[in-house]
Amino acid sequence: MRRGRSPRHGLWPAFPYTSFTALTDADLEDLWAFLQTVEPAAVPDREHDGPPGYQRWLWRRLMFRQHRFEADPDATPEQQRGQYLVDVVGHCGECHSPRGKLGKVKGDYLGGGTPPFNKAPAIDAAGLESWTRSDLETFLEMGMLPDGDFVGSGMYRVVEDGTAKLSAADRAAIVAWLLRDRAE
Ligand code: HEC
Repeated sequence: MRRGRSPRHGLWPAFPYTSFTALTDADLEDLWAFLQTVEPAAVPDREHDGPPGYQRWLWRRLMFRQHRFEADPDATPEQQRGQYLVDVVGHCGECHSPRGKLGKVKGDYLGGGTPPFNKAPAIDAAGLESWTRSDLETFLEMGMLPDGDFVGSGMYRVVEDGTAKLSAADRAAIVAWLLRDRAE
């Protein structure tokens, strides 16, 4: 999680350690404790089918820096919690941001993915301009868009396996962070 390595080899950032690296010690310990309670599956381990080892090594070497979470000092504690959930735990920026030629997230953070491979829309202040707080809370809870349609593709999984299972307070924190520039 911190260094993007398994006990055997370095990982390709399809596993988003680029965000998870900033998890707190307490959260990593809880995660470990929980995983110890999960029954092992009777499925053989699969071989790595991503890019070869030297490419993974090179990518980590050139593109990856371990870092700690730094809360925005001007934000409220609730907004800071939301910032941590968005940037680190929820790794929202891994899909919702453009990437450079070598696949590193850069530039316009949360400004939307780079089509055609990544159609995740912008979820920065401009991208969410027409959304109310309750639109965004409902969306994170059940995947319903402001027009009543349900979200598709990768995001449905994020809601179903992720944000829908958060506490209401954590969802409210995400909303407080993403819509922090609102007057009301
Ligand atoms: C695995 C990639 C992925 C991750 C991680 C992800 N999203 Fe998304 N998200 C998408 C995609 C793709 C869409 C567009 C889905 C569609 O068009 O049906 C989307 C749509 C959305 C929308 C609707 C935007 C609009 O204008 O319609 C919101 C809001 C959103 N995501 C918020 C989040 C938040 C908050 C997080 C982090 C907790 C997050 N997403 C993490 C891929 C992702």
